[in-house]
Amino acid sequence: MFILNDNNLRRVEELKKRYPAVQALTLPVLWMVQEQEGYISQDAMKYVAELLHMPYGHVLGVVTFYTMFHSVPTGRYHIEVCTNVSCMLKGSDRILEHLEHRLGIGCGQTTPDKKFTVTETECMGACGFAPMFAIGEEYHENLTPEKVDRILEGLS
Ligand code: FES
Repeated sequence: MFILNDNNLRRVEELKKRYPAVQALTLPVLWMVQEQEGYISQDAMKYVAELLHMPYGHVLGVVTFYTMFHSVPTGRYHIEVCTNVSCMLKGSDRILEHLEHRLGIGCGQTTPDKKFTVTETECMGACGFAPMFAIGEEYHENLTPEKVDRILEGLS
């Protein structure tokens, strides 16, 4: 059964003071869940729904709408490759193919050792530095296959 840890529960109590309705905490609380567990399970969604006094379907809708929320476990390094227009025009398909080939997995999959997950994502606002991907909160820009290799080699 999922439950937020004590530190996150304190954060929730602090946030409650800033908003007139607890439902406004949906996004920050889901972030806390994902930080704590690495993804947002169905069990955790039910917990959040109860915590914020809203229907489970509402929480499910938020989690499945935003691509930054993950409802299944990901690898230790989640590589989110932007394939939106600017990145596509600058060769994101080549970057994605290189990653798939190099890691031996398809887009949306996780390596058997649970180290890497590769997914496509929408524009992350770094169009001027296309093509790019994010690993967690870190952006890697102006990618080439050679640069991708160096990035992967730097991840322990
Ligand atoms: S299109 Fe890739 S960051 Fe905007």
